Amino acid sequence: MIDIYNRKIDYIRISVTDRCNLRCIYCMPESGISFFSHEMLLTYEEITQLCELFVKTGISKVKITGGEPLVRKDLNKLIKSIKDIDGINNITLTTNGILLEEQLDDLIKSGLDAVNISIDTLREDRYREITRVGEVHKVIRGIYKALKYKNLKVKLNYVPIKGKNEDEIIDIINLTKHKDLSVRFIELMPIGLGKDMAGYSDEEIISIIENKIGKMTPYKGKLGNGPSNYFSLDGYKGKIGFISAVSHKFCENCNRVRLTSDGFLKKCLQYEYGCDLKSMLRSGKSNDEILKIIEETIYNKPKNHHFNKENEKNSETKAMFQIGG
Ligand code: 5AD
Ligand code: SF4
Repeated sequence: MIDIYNRKIDYIRISVTDRCNLRCIYCMPESGISFFSHEMLLTYEEITQLCELFVKTGISKVKITGGEPLVRKDLNKLIKSIKDIDGINNITLTTNGILLEEQLDDLIKSGLDAVNISIDTLREDRYREITRVGEVHKVIRGIYKALKYKNLKVKLNYVPIKGKNEDEIIDIINLTKHKDLSVRFIELMPIGLGKDMAGYSDEEIISIIENKIGKMTPYKGKLGNGPSNYFSLDGYKGKIGFISAVSHKFCENCNRVRLTSDGFLKKCLQYEYGCDLKSMLRSGKSNDEILKIIEETIYNKPKNHHFNKENEKNSETKAMFQIGG
C-alpha cells in the first residue's frame, strides 16, 4: 500500500528469533543477555497467518532475519508456508552463515530466492575476535555452496569497523572478481553496542577501493529489495553496494516495515512505534480487525529517522538482534 508520505510499502522484514550462535562485538554482549522465552515468540502458524494479511496490504517480498534465523528449528518449513502464499513473490534470508551449509538444500527446496550472508572478516583469528565464538571457514563453505545454486542470489554483508577490519575491504571485494556475488558495505549504526564503535561512510570506502583497484561506476540496474547503492568495477563480475542509513538517509524511498520475533509490527527501525500483533492474535481478534490495525500502522510510518540526534523521543530501546536489522 501507499503510506502517508506516498511511499510504496511492499517489503517486510520478519525476525524469527532474537537468539544467535554468535556474539558480534557491535551487536551483543558476551553474556547476560535476556532472550525472549519460547512462548513470547510468534509460532510459525501465527507468522504465516500474519503474512496472509500482509499480502492483502500489498506486501509481496519477505526477508527472514534474527538474531540468527537458522538457529530456529525447521526454518525451512516457515519459508515454504510463506512462499506458498499467493502474492508473495520473493522470500530471502539474512544469516551469519554458520549453519548455512547444512541447511541450504532444505531452504532451496522450500523456495528461498536469495541469501545475504554476514561476514566481517575472512581471517579465522579475527573472526573469533569480532564474533567472539565463530569459525569463519564454516561461513565460507556456506558461501561457496550457495554459489552453486544458479537461481539463488547471493550477497555478502560487511560492516567495516575502525581499527578492526578495514584492511580486508579489498580482499572481500576480490571475492566478487570471478563470481556473481555482490558485497554490501554496511555503515555501523548507533544502535545497541554499535553506539560505542566507529564505522565507515561510503565515501571513505569508495576512496579506499578507488585507490587500490580503480574507478567505480554507479550501477543503474535493480538488485534486491533494499536501499543499497550499487557500483560496478571494471573486471569484476559482482557488484559493490553501500548501505549507509546514517550518513545517507534513504527514508524518502523506504519501502519496508518490520515484524519482531515477539510479534510487534514496527513502522521504522529507529522508533518504538507500531502495534502488538501477537496480543491481537492471542486475544482472538478477527483477521479483519487485525488487518485494519496493520493497514493503519503501515499508512502512518514516520517520515524519517533521526539517528544523528541525541535523546530523540520514543527512540527504540530494543537492540538490533531483537529487531532484525
Ligand atoms: N550497525 C550496522 N549493521 C549492523 N548489523 C548488526 N548490528 C549492526 C549495527 N549496529 C548487521 C549485521 C548483519 C546485518 C543483518 O546487520 O552485521 O550483517
Ligand atoms: Fe548474531 Fe548477527 Fe548479532 Fe552477529 S550481528 S551476534 S551474527 S545477530
